[in-house]
Order: sequence, then C-alpha cells, then structure tokens
Amino acid sequence: MRYNLSEIKALIEDRRTIQPELYSLRKVSPEIVKELLDAAKWAPTHRYTQPWFFKVFMGEGIRKLADFQSDTYREMASEENFDHEKFTKLRERPLLASAIIGICMKRDGAERDPEVEEIASVAMAVQNMMLVAAAHGIGAFWSSGGMTYTSQMKEFMGLGEKDRFLGQLYLGYPKDEWPKKTRRKPQEYYSEWVRG
Ligand SMILES: Cc1cc2nc3c(=O)[nH]c(=O)nc-3n(C[C@H](O)[C@H](O)[C@H](O)COP(=O)(O)O)c2cc1C
Repeated sequence: MRYNLSEIKALIEDRRTIQPELYSLRKVSPEIVKELLDAAKWAPTHRYTQPWFFKVFMGEGIRKLADFQSDTYREMASEENFDHEKFTKLRERPLLASAIIGICMKRDGAERDPEVEEIASVAMAVQNMMLVAAAHGIGAFWSSGGMTYTSQMKEFMGLGEKDRFLGQLYLGYPKDEWPKKTRRKPQEYYSEWVRG
C-alpha cells in the first residue's frame, strides 16, 4: 500500500456538506484557499483540457457577490413574485462564509470533448477541494441555488457564452462538532456486476 488507506477512506467518508449557518467566526486563510486550488488541478480531464475556473471571493469580495446576487434577484422578480425572505438570504447568507469559490467551466475553444465531460472534470476538481478542506477541519458546501443559472451570474463571473457557471463553494470552520455521516444506500443499489 503506497498510502494510509484507512485515513484516506475516513477522509472520504467524513467529508460533510456544512452550510454557512453552522460556521464559526474563525477565518479560513487565503493560504489554505490556495492549497485547495492547487488540489483542484489534479483532477483528471480528457485531453488535458483542464476546463475549471475558480473565482475566489473573500472579505469585501463576498459582500460584492452577495449584493450582486440579491440585486439581480430583485431586478428579475416581478412585483407579485418578489420573496423578501429569499432576497435577504441571498444578501446575508454569503457573509457567514470565510471564502466563497465560484465554480466555473470554461469551454475549450475547439470543443474537442463533449460538454458533459468538461462538467464532470470540474466536479472532480471540486471534490479534490472539498476533501482537502475536510482534512483541515473546514466545512464546504456546494450551492447551486439562487441566481446560479442566470445569464447575469455568468456575466458577473466573466464567463463566455459556451462556459458554464455551476455554483458556489462556501467555506468555513464549523462552530460545533463535525456533523455525522449522512445516509447512503449500500453498493448493491448502485452497482451491477457482469462477469462472463
Ligand atoms: C452539484 C451540487 C449542487 C448542490 N446544490 C445544493 C444546493 O443548492 N442547496 C443545498 O442545500 N445543497 C446543495 N448541494 C449539497 C447537497 O445537498 C449535499 O451534498 C447532500 O445533502 C449530501 O450531504 P453530504 O455532502 O454531507 O454528504 C449540492 C451538491 C452538489 C454536488
């Protein structure tokens, strides 16, 4: 065995989505965010397209993102559909995070691989970041709600027409103890073997 497998398995199983309401005031440092970004690039990609792009928001940058997404919601919602609670959540929830990483897929100019492969690679890069975060005792949460799939958000992230914005990765140290494992179906439910 080249690595300590029991530790690696424990890390994979213990990684938890931890939402910003559970974050403490302790700040994640930019150095750790850089460590996460370094881990991201080791995800596999077909033809080395490396289609990920991450826009990091910290400090006042988080407020800019929060203001942008809540203002966009206000502009988009009709008077009768405007939900004040949703607006407040879009404006205030990001401020609970130490850092928010915008998860983007930048399409290879030649479009050599199907889009689904490029999105899959970005998701693997995000998993690398989430695992390194978990190893540091940092909670991460991939949010794809709110304004994620709007053209305004895409533009805000500086993305082109063929690129995709896939969500926000919230980061923060949890206030209390690390949450327990969430439920998973056993492998009999999601695998089938063909052996001749
Ligand atoms: C692509 C993607 C998008 C997600 N978007 C949301 C979201 O918008 N809101 C949310 O509450 N959780 C979101 N999640 C997190 C899942 O809810 C979470 O992973 C799930 O509850 C399992 O928890 P665990 O990560 O602790 O195992 C998203 C996860 C992924 C992979």
